[in-house]
Formats: sequence, structure tokens, C-alpha cells
Amino acid sequence: MIKNSQKKLLITGGAGFIGSNFIHFIYNKYPNYIIYNLDLLTYAGNIRNMDNLKDIKGSKRYFFIKGDICDAKLVGGLFKKHKFDIVVNFAAESHVDRSISNDYHFFRTNFTGVHNLIALVRKYAIPRFIQISTDEIYGDVHKGASGESHPMHPSNPYAASKAAADLVVQSYMRTHKLPLLIVRGSNNYGPYQYPEKLIPLTITNLLEDKKIPIHGDGQQLRRWLHVEDFCRAIDLIMNKGKDFSIYNVAGSETSNLNIVIMVAKVLKKDPKKFIFFINDRPGGDRRYAPDATKIKKELGWSPQYHIKNHLVNVVGWYLNNEQWWQDIKKKQAFKAYYKKQLRSEY
Ligand SMILES: NC(=O)c1ccc[n+]([C@@H]2O[C@H](COP(=O)([O-])OP(=O)(O)OC[C@H]3O[C@@H](n4cnc5c(N)ncnc54)[C@H](O)[C@@H]3O)[C@@H](O)[C@H]2O)c1
Repeated sequence: MIKNSQKKLLITGGAGFIGSNFIHFIYNKYPNYIIYNLDLLTYAGNIRNMDNLKDIKGSKRYFFIKGDICDAKLVGGLFKKHKFDIVVNFAAESHVDRSISNDYHFFRTNFTGVHNLIALVRKYAIPRFIQISTDEIYGDVHKGASGESHPMHPSNPYAASKAAADLVVQSYMRTHKLPLLIVRGSNNYGPYQYPEKLIPLTITNLLEDKKIPIHGDGQQLRRWLHVEDFCRAIDLIMNKGKDFSIYNVAGSETSNLNIVIMVAKVLKKDPKKFIFFINDRPGGDRRYAPDATKIKKELGWSPQYHIKNHLVNVVGWYLNNEQWWQDIKKKQAFKAYYKKQLRSEY
């Protein structure tokens, strides 16, 4: 029997970077919420991301299910059995470079998987579904900023697969009047990020005295968002957002090169000794600039972290959790891909 204050949440992709941070956030904030985590455990998923949660072992409010969001029988069975109040979809193939060399799983998970989820949301009348989308769908924004109604111009297969999902979710909002919401986040950083992404790669390579590959001239601009700020935004949207809404969530703008210099400074290393430039990725975007005015005005969200001041804490997390990232970096899935990346092979 579920009490009024209790909610049953299905988090898909909860063993990845943002999903696992979101589970920590919700688990600690709402003792009455029951969390189900459905994740396929691809190279990017790590069940150990939940190890630090208090009393997680044998917990009656956190359950892990290994499975695929494309599997209609499995997902339909879960919807029927648990009657979730909210479904939040983080599951995705998320690395742009990997989508350039082989995009099959990107379209399968990021598009077909999302279609499967919302078709089942319709069938089982789930009261709230949140699709985690990205600012990459807007493509290059040379001047100004992109509001939620800015046209989509995805530049790479990852962004295109996310834009396709975004559109199918919008079509279900309008045609089927389903209670769906879309959240478009900018580049996140924080604990538990897979170490092939820029910030954890820079931190861990510097700790290992290894060089840091930088795409192109490193002047690509992104609006860096601390994952905890993103989790707070998703929580607000989940509990207070209006059905059929789309919200951008964004942090502060800085270049990739500047990020590497800032991390090196925190670790007291000379960036010039470590940086080397590799070919820019084909179709590489220079700037993303999502405008987060709507969520600020409607829901009162604003970021609590600024990358300039809080990078030091993130570096501290990787310093204190060496075993976590060393275990990933030892695996073939990491090593093989990293070698390709260094040779700019797509
Ligand atoms: N990382 C960012 O900066 C960022 C920014 C904005 C939006 N996003 C979006 O946020 C979401 C989460 O991103 P992330 O960085 O945590 O990604 P991630 O790659 O770290 O995690 C993705 C998770 O999804 C799981 N997964 C993959 N395919 C699956 C499938 N078919 N069924 C079930 N689980 C599957 C993986 O095992 C992994 O645990 C993605 O949808 C991404 O597009 C990410």
C-alpha cells in the first residue's frame, strides 16, 4: 500500500553518470520514495555507482533491474506490476565521438528506446514521464542563446538521435495529450562521470602524469553545469513542472581549453606540459548556448555551483575515489576506445 507521500519512481539509465547522481539525490532527499533503476549496464553503466548510498544493501526503497529500454515485454511488465508515479529516462548512448564511428546503438536506444517507453506510458497511463534531452539538439549557436523554441540543427549522430527522441515525445504530447516533459541539459560535470569525457579524463590523466588530448584548437564553448544543479532542476520539474513543458537547464560558459587549464591549476601542474591537440571531431560544434530563463522564472531554479569555484571539489572527488576510475580505465572497453580517440579514428 503506497502512502500519499510515497511515490514510485522508475529511473532508466540510473547506473550512468547523471542517472546515478539523480538516484543519490532523490534517495537522500525523499525517504518515502521507492526507486527502481532499469539499466542495461553498457560500458558506461556501473552498478558500483550506488555503493556509497546509505543502507542500500537490502534496501526496501531501491531496486535494480538489469534490462533494455527497447524491450517492450520487460518494460510493459514493470509498468503493469509497479504502477509507477513517475518515469525519468536517462538511458542513452551518450558519447558523441562513439556516435561518429558507429551510430547503430545511438538510434536504437536514444530513439527506438524512447519511443518504446512513451508508447508504454500511454498504454499503462503513467501519470508523469520526463525525457532527459540535451542542448546538443540545437547545434552550433554562434551568437546569442537558444530558448526552448529555437529550431533543432543537430550536427552529429548522437545529437540527431536525441533530437529525434525529443520530436517523438513532443508529438505524443500533442496528439495523445500525454503528461510528458522534456529537460534539455547543457554539459554536465561531477562525480561518477565516465573517464573518457573531458573533465574526468583531464583529472585522471593528470593524476597519472599522462597527456591530455584536446580536440581542434580547444576553443569550443559549452555551458558547464554541475550535476547536482541538474538533479535539483530535474527534481523541481518532476514535482512542479507543468505537463507538456520543455525546459533548458544550463550552467556557465567556458572553453574546453580553459577547463583543462583550470583543472591543471587545481592539481598544481603546468598545463603546457600535458596538453596536446588532436583533429577536431568531424562536424564539431563551436558553441552551445541554451538559455535557462524559463526554468529560472517559472520554477525559481538557479545554479548553486560555478565551475570556476567548484571544480576543486570535483577534482577532490576523483582524488578520493581512485579505485573507481582506475577500475574503469583498466577495462578493454575504455582502453580500445581511447586509443582510437588519440589517433582521431572515427
Ligand atoms: N553528460 C552530459 O553532459 C549530458 C548533458 C545533457 C543531457 N545528457 C543526457 O542525460 C542522459 C544521461 O547522460 P549520462 O552522461 O549520464 O550518460 P551515461 O552514458 O553516463 O549513462 C547512460 C546509462 O544508460 C544506460 N543504457 C544505455 N543503453 C541502454 C538501454 N538500451 N537500456 C537501458 N539502459 C541503457 C547505460 O548502461 C548507462 O548506465 C542521456 O540521455 C544524455 O543524452 C547528458
